[in-house]
Amino acid sequence: GTVVLAFSGGLDTSICVPILKNMYGYDRVVTVAADVGQPESEVKMATDKGNLIADKHYTLDLKDAFVKNHVFPAIKANALYEGYPMGTSLARPIIAEEIVKIAKKENAAAIGHGCTGKGNDQLRFDYIFRMHGFDIVAPMREHNMTREWEIDYAEQNNVPIPVKKSTPWSVDENIWSRSIEGGRLEEPDYHPPEEIYHWTAALKDTPNEPEIVTIGFENGVPVSLNGKKMSGVELIVTLNKLAGKHSVGRNDMVEDRVLGLKARENYEHPAATVLIAAHKDLEKLVLSRAELKFKNMVDDQWAELAYMGLIHEPLYHDLNAFINKTQERVTGTVDVQLYKGGLHIMGRASPNAIYSMDMVSFDSTTIDQRDAIGYSKYFGIQGRMLWQLQNK
Ligand code: ARG
Ligand code: SIN
Repeated sequence: GTVVLAFSGGLDTSICVPILKNMYGYDRVVTVAADVGQPESEVKMATDKGNLIADKHYTLDLKDAFVKNHVFPAIKANALYEGYPMGTSLARPIIAEEIVKIAKKENAAAIGHGCTGKGNDQLRFDYIFRMHGFDIVAPMREHNMTREWEIDYAEQNNVPIPVKKSTPWSVDENIWSRSIEGGRLEEPDYHPPEEIYHWTAALKDTPNEPEIVTIGFENGVPVSLNGKKMSGVELIVTLNKLAGKHSVGRNDMVEDRVLGLKARENYEHPAATVLIAAHKDLEKLVLSRAELKFKNMVDDQWAELAYMGLIHEPLYHDLNAFINKTQERVTGTVDVQLYKGGLHIMGRASPNAIYSMDMVSFDSTTIDQRDAIGYSKYFGIQGRMLWQLQNK
């Protein structure tokens, strides 16, 4: 029968091709690579390799759909998981759903993936594949494979591999985020070498002058950069370069995976860092105090579901409905200064601001300040009464 394989061209998924035939007995392996904004050279490498080693290969350009259907909702939800802008988790569901379409077209009996049994990606993929009724083949997890063994197997089966035993970083990359794991990074106290970072400059190489960028938002999503209208993809790509030059958007952290394992993770996500900070700031100008407080909880729940990849959980849709309603007013601009690995919001503006300079200004007399005297008399009255009782 036919098996469709989620394929990146990396070590794990490359050796899956001979493994699915030699160890699982499938006679036809169809590979599917998804372009979600990793470097063009990576997409080309996966395409060439798939064409070389599989019976049939597909490369799907999912960049626009990924940004529109998963990154934009993440911006609206200020989506951070344990403090960092998540990336891999946002891309897995759309990759899985597109693979399912191909598996149906190719009459596949099963879908394969190269995830380990230790991580989150297996759960995110399995969830969608299982939902559509496919059998799942995951050789790395089913055979407890180690990277050493995999490298030897690749060499024996003439599968070209990109990693050398000396630099065994496992990288997952999309337009929104780049993650680096594995090798000595698994020692939590090991200081990461500069070479793991590709999107962000080393601090010592950043410009000595700060730079200000202006982000324009419409209904909660970014639509312009420095006054120039851009598509989501173009804006994120451009901003990644701009903010990456200033080394904005690195995370080195210990993360709690869904299974409960703690893992040392390194990330770079310059545009995501800037856009979420700017978006959050603009919300403070246009949403009410009650909305902001409630939305914090909603955002947190949203991030947790998105991290798990549970995009068919009804609560995920319910939260999106709330979030989208609030975003109808999140239109305006935010100025962000980038400098030496940090960012500062310098100013913000919106036609929907619930802000009156006229009322709040130290210099205006629009409000009769004496109106507050009555309010003040009732303010905190119960606590004051109790204190007085106890301190008589
Ligand atoms: N820890 C991150 C997450 O769960 C990154 C995972 C990276 N995945 C990978 N296959 N290298 O979202
Ligand atoms: C993996 O274990 O396959 C990669 C890491 C993760 O899924 O979290």
